[in-house]
Amino acid sequence: MERGRSARGHAVSRCDSVSDSRSGRDGDWESACEQLRGKERAPVCDDLWVTDAPPGERAWRHILGFLTSQAVCLAAELALADHLAGSPLGLSDLAAVSGADAAALGRVLRHLESVGFFEQRADGRYANTPMSDSLRKDAPGSQRDFAVFVRRLMYPASVDLLGSVRSGGPAFDRVFGQPLFGYLSEQPDAGEVFSRGMASAAALRSQAALSYPWPPGATVVDVGGSDGAILTALLLSRPDLTGIVFDLPHVASRAHTRIEQAGLSGRCQFAGGDFFGQRWPAGDVYLLSGVIHDWDDESALRILENARRAVPADGRLVLLEVVLPATSGFHPGKVLDLVMLTMTTGYERADRQWRDLLGAARFEIAHLTPSARVSLIEARPA
Ligand SMILES: C[S@@+](CC[C@H](N)C(=O)[O-])C[C@H]1O[C@@H](n2cnc3c(N)ncnc32)[C@H](O)[C@@H]1O
Repeated sequence: MERGRSARGHAVSRCDSVSDSRSGRDGDWESACEQLRGKERAPVCDDLWVTDAPPGERAWRHILGFLTSQAVCLAAELALADHLAGSPLGLSDLAAVSGADAAALGRVLRHLESVGFFEQRADGRYANTPMSDSLRKDAPGSQRDFAVFVRRLMYPASVDLLGSVRSGGPAFDRVFGQPLFGYLSEQPDAGEVFSRGMASAAALRSQAALSYPWPPGATVVDVGGSDGAILTALLLSRPDLTGIVFDLPHVASRAHTRIEQAGLSGRCQFAGGDFFGQRWPAGDVYLLSGVIHDWDDESALRILENARRAVPADGRLVLLEVVLPATSGFHPGKVLDLVMLTMTTGYERADRQWRDLLGAARFEIAHLTPSARVSLIEARPA
C-alpha cells in the first residue's frame, strides 16, 4: 500500500495492490482482505466489507451502500471520467459538459471522493483517480459499460430481491415483465446495454481464456458468446485458431461489427441459434463462458447434454465460471449469486455441484483452475 498526500494535505493510503488482487491477478481475495485489515484505515479506501468500525456503524454502511453504487454508476452514465480524461475541470464546467446540476453533482462527487473515485484538487478542479479512471470508456479493462448495465438492468431487478427470496424466482421477470433473454431480444436498446456490459465484464474471462492451451489449429465455438468479445481477444492472440460465436440471432449485428473491427472476418463467424436446440455449429473445442450460471439445473443440463452431442470424442468443453468456495468469508461469487437470483433462474455453483452437473451430462472434469473471480473448468467426454 503506497502512502502519499492529497492536494488538500490529507495523508492518504492507496489500495492499488488490493485492487489488483480483486481483479483476479493475484487470485486470492481473502488474503487481499487480510492484508488490508492489518493496515491503517485509509480515507480514500473506505471499503464496505473491511472496516474496524463498531457493528452498528458497519451495518449502517451496508444499509446505505446502494447509494455509493448508484453514485458510481451515474458517474459512468454521465461519462464524468471521460470528461476529466484530458484535464481537470471545475464543477460548473463538469456539470455543463455532463448535463448535470452543478450543486447536485458536487454533492455526489463529495461522497465519491471519500471512497476513492475522483479527487478535488487544491485549485477546486476535479481530476480522475485510478478508480474513477477505470470508468473511462477507453480505459484498459474499462468498467464503464458494466456500470451502465448495472444501473439500467441489474439495479431495478435487485430492488425486488425480497420478491426473489419469497418466490425463489427472478425479480427481473416481475420488474421487466418477462425473462431476461426474451426482454433483451425484444428491446434493442436493452440488448445493446447488456452486450456492452458483458463485453466490459468479459475482460477477466478473456484473460482466463488466453491462459488455456487451445489445441493448435482448432476451431473454437463460443456458445452464448454474446458479441464475441472473448473469442475475438483469443483469436487475436492465437493466429492459428478459427472461431464461431454461437448466440441468439438478435446479437448478430453487434457480433459482426466486433469481428470486422478486429479484422477477423476471415477466421471468425457468427452463427445465430438456440443452445437449447441440437443444431450447434461444428467445432473442436467448445467454450461456455458465464452461460451455465444463468440457468437452473434442468436447463443447464439440457445445454450441457447438447454440448456432449457436439463435442468430438477427443474434443474438450471449456467453462469459465465462478466456483464458490466452501469458506464463509467474502467472495465475489457470493455477490454474483445474488445477481443470478434476481436476474435469472440460475445460481453460482460450488466444486461438487459442477462435478455433479457435468457428470450428469456425461462429462468429466480434466482440470479445474480456481480463481477468485473466474475459474476455468476443462471437461472431456466421459
Ligand atoms: C451472461 S451472457 C455471457 C456472455 C459471454 N459468454 C461472456 O462470458 O461475457 C449469456 C449469453 O447467452 C446468450 N443466450 C441466452 N439464451 C440463449 C439461447 N437460448 N441460445 C443461445 N444463446 C443464448 C445470451 O444472448 C448471452 O450472450
